[in-house]
Amino acid sequence: MAEDWLERTQFHFTPDTYLDEIRGEVPNYDTLQREVAEASAIEGVQRVLDLGAGTGATSRAVLERHPSAFLFLVDASAEMLAVARRQLPADRVETIDVGDMRDELPDGPFDLVVSALAVHHLDGAEKRTLFGRVRGRLRPGGRFVLADVVVPDDPADAITPLIPGYDKPDRVDDLLNSLTAAGFDPSLTWSVKDLVVIAADVEA
Ligand SMILES: C[S@@+](CC[C@H](N)C(=O)[O-])C[C@H]1O[C@@H](n2cnc3c(N)ncnc32)[C@H](O)[C@@H]1O
Repeated sequence: MAEDWLERTQFHFTPDTYLDEIRGEVPNYDTLQREVAEASAIEGVQRVLDLGAGTGATSRAVLERHPSAFLFLVDASAEMLAVARRQLPADRVETIDVGDMRDELPDGPFDLVVSALAVHHLDGAEKRTLFGRVRGRLRPGGRFVLADVVVPDDPADAITPLIPGYDKPDRVDDLLNSLTAAGFDPSLTWSVKDLVVIAADVEA
């Protein structure tokens, strides 16, 4: 299992079978996506940035909640994004950028920034830099919804397969502190085992 996971992770999954693969590894994957959409429920969402968008599952869930929004997708994998481009409604997609979350982000302002199961690939300093940049791209009253794997209080809850050195999850308190330091008002909206969803607000 670990070798299998390592191989697929290094190749950023097999894009066409990604959903089946990740549902096998992360039993609460679909619930997590629904909880991201739930946590994205603020008024006036038009421009949505999805970081580490992969094959577009998070974007799709958010679009169902905000049907007139426009999506801006960023991911390091052109192959994952090719699936997202095929599966998302073309008239709701503004840009699809092959890029690294550690680099500058697309121009804002955005009403909503979302990221699921991707930020844990960054180390602590990179996460803090990213959170500051996300804060700078959001409009007043905007929201960052961060869904990810964390280091749980109870080691028995660490059920998501991780590769040391490639996956760098933090404790949820560290994420909340880093978001606060970046100028957000964050709150934990959902948590099961080692998965969390955080809604981080920008003052209106
Ligand atoms: C587990 S997938 C999650 C995809 C999608 N958000 C979802 O929930 O299904 C992680 C994604 O993060 C992307 N990724 C990892 N590190 C990245 C980085 N530094 N910059 C941009 N994308 C990155 C990978 O290419 C992959 O598509």
